Amino acid sequence: MFPTHRPRRLRGTETIRRMVRETTLSPDDFIYPLFVTYGRDVKKPIRSMPGCYQQSVDNIVRTAKEIFSLGIPGVILFGIPEHKDEIGSEAFSPEGVVQQSIKAIKDSVPELMVITDVCMCEYTSHGHCGIVKDGEVLNDPTLELLQKEAVSHAYAGADMVAPSDMMDGRVKAIREALDREGFTNIPIMSYAAKYASAFYGPFREAAESAPQFGDRRSYQMDPPNRREALKEVALDIEEGADIVMVKPALAYLDVISDVKNMFDVPVAAYNVSGEYSLVKAAAELGWIDHDRIMMEILISIKRAGADIILTYFAPEAAKILQG
Ligand code: PBG
Repeated sequence: MFPTHRPRRLRGTETIRRMVRETTLSPDDFIYPLFVTYGRDVKKPIRSMPGCYQQSVDNIVRTAKEIFSLGIPGVILFGIPEHKDEIGSEAFSPEGVVQQSIKAIKDSVPELMVITDVCMCEYTSHGHCGIVKDGEVLNDPTLELLQKEAVSHAYAGADMVAPSDMMDGRVKAIREALDREGFTNIPIMSYAAKYASAFYGPFREAAESAPQFGDRRSYQMDPPNRREALKEVALDIEEGADIVMVKPALAYLDVISDVKNMFDVPVAAYNVSGEYSLVKAAAELGWIDHDRIMMEILISIKRAGADIILTYFAPEAAKILQG
């Protein structure tokens, strides 16, 4: 009790603050999301996500090199196909934009971890994450498509697959399909607790994946639910997930913390598009200090328990961390 205890003693200088700092950030913590599109020499700015682009394969490779040189260990790829159809065929085409990018990146920066988002919504004409019949997203028939997509990414050379569709049983289905094809060493990072969130708004412009009718609330989680996240995570780990993800991050720090405390696998958190755009917009208006807000957000996600942070801020933050 005061005056014996004076917590300010440990805050007097930057050096002492460094000594007692509980959480630190490093470029090692980051995964950078990339949007790959068809064509050549395309680098199209995403209006609602300043600093992010839809890029063709040639430009993706250039960016991948830069990312690796900043000390960031991995990227996650999202594809914008030339043609969409009812079943999202380009998701599992060997010539798809993601498959081509994986090969091109692995050829030029072999050490960079190439992770792929496994989902149908960018590839389907209706924009939902699975097969649609009579206005409903069907669970079990979708699993087969996800298996094909994950396997095609593995054949192209992906280092890890990340299913984000929220169909029940997809981790088990994907694990079985990968193993059957001999990809027993490819880890699965599952979007285990993925909420039906308005924070994905800008991403849907970036990936051109907005649902054409309805919303995703019949498969993504209901934001008010906290305990249900633990059930989703437990199921995914049982089914064979190697890393589990909570998404979005900022409005769900309690969930990140619960998952970290309850399970002993690495925890990833997705600092999603809307969380990024809010900061960019306020900074453009001159209302906040961009870099300080960015670093504070990232450290908060780490402090909550994330081992891995998927973030559009990765290159900017890595530059600051490298000094
Ligand atoms: C695909 C997917 C989405 C995101 C990642 N994978 C969009 C969605 O579920 O609608 C969102 C990422 C972001 O907002 O940054 N299902």
